[in-house]
Amino acid sequence: MTTSADTQRVVVLTGGTSGIGRIAATELATQGATVAVIGRDQTRGDTLVADTTPLDGDIRFHQADLATQATVRSLATELLDTYDRIDALVHNAGLSAHRRTETEDGVELTFAVNHLAPYLLTHELLDRLRTSEPTRVVVTASDIHRRATFDFDDIQFTNEYDSLQAYARSKLATVAFTLELADRLEDTEVTANCFHPGFVPSTNLFRDAPIWTRAMVRAAAIIPGIGTTQQEGARRLCHLVTAPEFGDGTGTYVTGEGITSPSTEATDPENRQRLWTISADLVGIDPDWP
Ligand SMILES: NC(=O)c1ccc[n+]([C@@H]2O[C@H](COP(=O)([O-])OP(=O)(O)OC[C@H]3O[C@@H](n4cnc5c(N)ncnc54)[C@H](OP(=O)(O)O)[C@@H]3O)[C@@H](O)[C@H]2O)c1
Repeated sequence: MTTSADTQRVVVLTGGTSGIGRIAATELATQGATVAVIGRDQTRGDTLVADTTPLDGDIRFHQADLATQATVRSLATELLDTYDRIDALVHNAGLSAHRRTETEDGVELTFAVNHLAPYLLTHELLDRLRTSEPTRVVVTASDIHRRATFDFDDIQFTNEYDSLQAYARSKLATVAFTLELADRLEDTEVTANCFHPGFVPSTNLFRDAPIWTRAMVRAAAIIPGIGTTQQEGARRLCHLVTAPEFGDGTGTYVTGEGITSPSTEATDPENRQRLWTISADLVGIDPDWP
């Protein structure tokens, strides 16, 4: 173990090199946490660390492309070797792939990064979360999940790929995953909650979108009253990581209005169970976890 911070909170945060996650990482470190930021680009990670010191806490960067399952597994090993406790695991990394692309594991990219990576990383780090209790899993979801359904016969859009639908379905999966995880961890002191950061047009999320979408998002970013700021999205993330009520409360979906009901497609127990089993199969683990 290389950390000496036995008494310092350790937050593992994916997608901390840009947008909402970058601001949240800085805020959590300012509040005194050691923040292990996961990102795929070493230069952006180095810049983050250089830009945000000195702080009361600490930001450490771990380079990993979450699109690849082998990388998620070696990232987990690196984190377990580095931190002897993990107080919060925040799944914030996300993307929206314009064209249908498959990862080297043969999984549709948006589904792989937005849903399967959180599923697998949680599995790999769960024992450390259990030995560090009370602990939290926090997931950045989106209200766009309400526009999606699960088509379990073609969950990865092999037919008629649509980038917005694929993104919405991946976010539906993140909500269903969080609720199912919370239920499965009911007898533990690990909570699982997810949230909608608001529509934040100023982030890099839409960089890969069609040109007309990017133009609309760029316009939305400068027109007052449309969407919200990166700071507000980050504030919502930090609230789930630090507020006492999410240390006890679990299985919730939080928006700007507070705890809100997610779509019935996400809450449906049969959907959640099927998603869990399919996900386990796609990453090659036993579905009877935890
Ligand atoms: N912006 C919105 O309106 C909005 C609304 C609802 C939900 N969300 C969600 O909020 C979260 C943060 O997004 P954002 O809006 O802040 O966008 P962003 O600026 O694009 O940030 C996304 C983060 O995810 C990381 N990431 C993407 N693919 C990755 C991969 N394969 N491996 C590792 N890291 C990867 C990015 O790393 P790089 O720096 O390397 O690109 C970046 O740090 C996402 O989950 C998104 O779906 C956003």
